[in-house]
Amino acid sequence: MSVMHNEVPASKRLGPAPAEAELTPAERMSADELRAVQLDRLKWTLRHAYANVPCYREKFDEAGVHPDDCRDLADLAKFPFTTKEDLRRNYPFGMFAVPQEELRRVHASSGTTGKPTVVGYTGEDIDTWATVMARSIHAAGGRPGHKVHVAYGYGLFTGGLGAHYGAEKLGCTVIPASGGMTARQVQLITDFRPEIIMVTPSYMLTLLDEFERQGVDPRRSSLRTGIFGAEPWTEHMRAEIEARFDLDAVDIYGLSEVIGPGVAQECVETKDGLHIWEDHFYPEIIDPVEETVLGEGETGEVVFTSLTKQAMPVIRYRTRDLTALRPGTARPAFRRMDKVTGRGDDMIILRGVNIFPTQIEEIVLATAGLSPHFQIHLTRSGHADQLTVLVEARTDTPSGRRATAAAEIVQRVKDGAGLTVGAEIVDPGSLERSVGKLRRVLDHRPPR
Ligand code: DLL
Repeated sequence: MSVMHNEVPASKRLGPAPAEAELTPAERMSADELRAVQLDRLKWTLRHAYANVPCYREKFDEAGVHPDDCRDLADLAKFPFTTKEDLRRNYPFGMFAVPQEELRRVHASSGTTGKPTVVGYTGEDIDTWATVMARSIHAAGGRPGHKVHVAYGYGLFTGGLGAHYGAEKLGCTVIPASGGMTARQVQLITDFRPEIIMVTPSYMLTLLDEFERQGVDPRRSSLRTGIFGAEPWTEHMRAEIEARFDLDAVDIYGLSEVIGPGVAQECVETKDGLHIWEDHFYPEIIDPVEETVLGEGETGEVVFTSLTKQAMPVIRYRTRDLTALRPGTARPAFRRMDKVTGRGDDMIILRGVNIFPTQIEEIVLATAGLSPHFQIHLTRSGHADQLTVLVEARTDTPSGRRATAAAEIVQRVKDGAGLTVGAEIVDPGSLERSVGKLRRVLDHRPPR
């Protein structure tokens, strides 16, 4: 049978696992080799931080530990944690371990309260970051010569420039679109035909609307892989995006304090959680309350120690992100982390019950007739806090379906979390769209 020149193949997704020879030497290390590299680098990092950052020297002295006490990777547990509060107290440049003239760049993440968190990079740090990002894009199916549309924001946020340098380092052609100007994004994708898009999952949904508004079939776009991160998203969201665009959707994780995006990446051939690039970032999982180290497979807060960063080493940095560690698969030496379902501080505590926005996302996407666009509103009447889920119907949902869909959500939240909530189905297109990181929860409650 002849295939027309322009016909889209049955699936345009990117192909199989890379051959062994395509992996970088770091990715081919054995677990023992990796542990030896980690220990060397950890000793260097502890010494470097202690010698050059007063905050670390004080914290180590106070805890009665010295870098020389680290003889084994397990000894790391003797050292004190670092928190966002430590970074705030040393705003803007107090956590840096090198003189300012050696910094080639700073980034900052805007906190919801108070001052932003400032992070800095030497030239070598920027190269390390590009290396782990190149590795991430490769693990997602990217290859030299691919065109990469970067729709993470450029600027103080680490998403845009982090993706950009990594894609260049891998040998890709970067389209630095940044966030916003959604109509133009769709035009660029249609005209430039990138294979890869890097964007928050919520902004990908905004782009989906725009494809449909312009009458362009997203399944026939050139996109074959999406590298989505910077905010939590669920397996249901993966299924939705993969089906609507006919592409492979993989997860990328990172945070500014540790380097930016590229701390951990899901491999396209397995899609089974994110391999942590452990030759640069050493993970531990702790019980957030007891502050004890948990074992493999146990869910808790992930804590990272940088192993190679010069400008701003971080020792046992408390991310507040909840996940569990698993053994490596597609990259055997590197442990995986589960998808991050939320941050300790995203958790909604309503009438004593804990619930994460991602739990609601799963329920919304498992309910027929509903789009993935939803918001969580928190209100108070009298002394009672209320949670209401607002969800857009899909364009083809019959109006009679709305009331039953709302009732299904209420029932599923009740069954799943034991919580009575409200649900309202609204018109397609009526909720605010994301251009970057999405604000999922709108808290209208007056302070108590
Ligand atoms: O969001 C870095 C990044 C950019 C990661 C682009 C991936 C892609 P920050 O602005 O410092 O840095 O925010 C970091 O975002 O602690 C998590 O709570 C959340 N986060 C990042 N990636 C994921 C993910 C960037 N894949 C904070 N899944 C982190 C869930 C994520 N949450």
